[in-house]
Amino acid sequence: MRINKVFLPAIAGVVAVGGFLAVTAARHAERVMRVDFDKVVRVTSPAYDARLAPVVDAPIKEFRIPIKDATLEIAKGVTYQGWTFGGTVPGPVIHVRVGDLVRVTVINNSPMPHSIDFHAARIPANKAYRMIMPKDSVQFEFVAKDAGAFMVHCGTPPVTMHLMQGMYFPFIVDPKNGWGTRADKEFVLVQSEFYAKPGETGKVGVLLPATPDWNAEQTKNASQVVFNGRAFQYKENTLKVDVGDRVRIFVVNAGPNFESDFHIVGAIFDRVYPDGNPSHALEDVQTYHVPAGGGAVFETVFAKDGSGEGLYPFVTHSFADAEKGAVGIIQVGEPKNAHMDH
Ligand code: CU
Ligand code: CU
Repeated sequence: MRINKVFLPAIAGVVAVGGFLAVTAARHAERVMRVDFDKVVRVTSPAYDARLAPVVDAPIKEFRIPIKDATLEIAKGVTYQGWTFGGTVPGPVIHVRVGDLVRVTVINNSPMPHSIDFHAARIPANKAYRMIMPKDSVQFEFVAKDAGAFMVHCGTPPVTMHLMQGMYFPFIVDPKNGWGTRADKEFVLVQSEFYAKPGETGKVGVLLPATPDWNAEQTKNASQVVFNGRAFQYKENTLKVDVGDRVRIFVVNAGPNFESDFHIVGAIFDRVYPDGNPSHALEDVQTYHVPAGGGAVFETVFAKDGSGEGLYPFVTHSFADAEKGAVGIIQVGEPKNAHMDH
């Protein structure tokens, strides 16, 4: 394999280590950053790590992305046999900057054909996004020209099936000179739906995995609507920020079918960048929709004299979907007797 060196800084799961290595990389003016997502797997326990690691300076970024089947936990106690990029749903979080050369190698280690589709790339789709047979791989490169929160997904027909099985991940592109304001904390949230029949109790009394429900998908009757692959995971494992923090959230909606009406209860977005163009900022927004296959960048400040210490649920304000799992909590500071009725 051509790309085999693991370079840790791009991985949010190892923020402390990454921070140290990023400094080292800058000092030595590394030009190429390499990440092998077979070796560096996104942390998903106790919750998918929603933190976004800072972008690394290296202008060339190489990613080796394995496609593999994996057992997921799509809701507490509900397992599901998924198809994945990198062994998790969503797959890895990739963070680059406008102007970076992005080199991609995708290896299909699963028993059926798949493919990859980077919404952030301007590239001939018939070449880069061709079918990858089992044990085959595809390689291509592109320059990231557009800032934003982008979706990457498998495009093998029927695409809806490959999406409901978990084949997507977020690709974050920072503007060349940053977002204009410094954020104290950055998070990535990918909204998506599962269409799963509950598992039955097996012979030895074990609950069997939930199974794909194609008819439910075709009638858009989701069983779970989730942020980062598991229903309600951020209610217990809150996203923690400090009083006064400016928080930037990159929201990607992987669908396959629903819109995300992103909202934080108790806060206002002082900026929203639809699709991520920093010159198209909307100001003072309560809720903003992210279409299936789209992304947007949200910013809010948890200021002491406003949305200060306390708990703030983030939801899709399409509430039938929130009730199926698309709700989590941002914890600001260390509120006493923290309890949420909402
Ligand atoms: Cu696929
Ligand atoms: Cu697409």
